[in-house]
Amino acid sequence: MIGQFSVHEGLAGTGSENGGGGLTPPNQQLKSPGMAIREIIILPDKKLRLVSKPVEKVTAEIRKLADDMFETMYDAPGIGLAAIQVAQPLRLITMDLAKRDEEGETQPRPRVFINPEILSASEELSIYEEGCLSIPEYYEEVERPAKVRVRFIDLDGKLHEEDAEGLFATCIQHEIDHLNGVLFVDYLSKLKRDRVLKKFAKAARRAVDE
Ligand code: NI
Repeated sequence: MIGQFSVHEGLAGTGSENGGGGLTPPNQQLKSPGMAIREIIILPDKKLRLVSKPVEKVTAEIRKLADDMFETMYDAPGIGLAAIQVAQPLRLITMDLAKRDEEGETQPRPRVFINPEILSASEELSIYEEGCLSIPEYYEEVERPAKVRVRFIDLDGKLHEEDAEGLFATCIQHEIDHLNGVLFVDYLSKLKRDRVLKKFAKAARRAVDE
């Protein structure tokens, strides 16, 4: 049995009771004076196809990048962001899959994944409707392993191994794909993929002309 859910790196799925607005905007507690919203690159920006480099050391610069990525991700709003989406080809991902509680409040749950690797993946698959902040307003169903085991480093340089399932499994696979220059549209039929690539290429040309 394949589960059908909705996961958008960008907005929440259709039928969401908050009008499709997705997660709540940035949480004040997460803000520090130095944080800045960076520009999210979108299709057909060629940088999205780069293979990102491992983070060799968690420096102040890396922490600043992670801070800015959270600021950018919450502002979008989105639930996951890879560094390459703010034009930094480094293997770093920010994510917040916090759910709303009964009062409709969202407690932020920011997570950072540095040099993440998928150690194993289940044969069982699940389908989520995915979206991407670098492919705005485009959503399609993608089938991926339902569960994955992930290894990564946190901002303290500590190594972790964790089992991911559900939304987390899909989101971490989507974001790790970004680090390898892969986009969710690559999993679609050639027809659908060509259609969306063409649409964004055309929009970019139009923007230049104007
Ligand atoms: Ni994405």
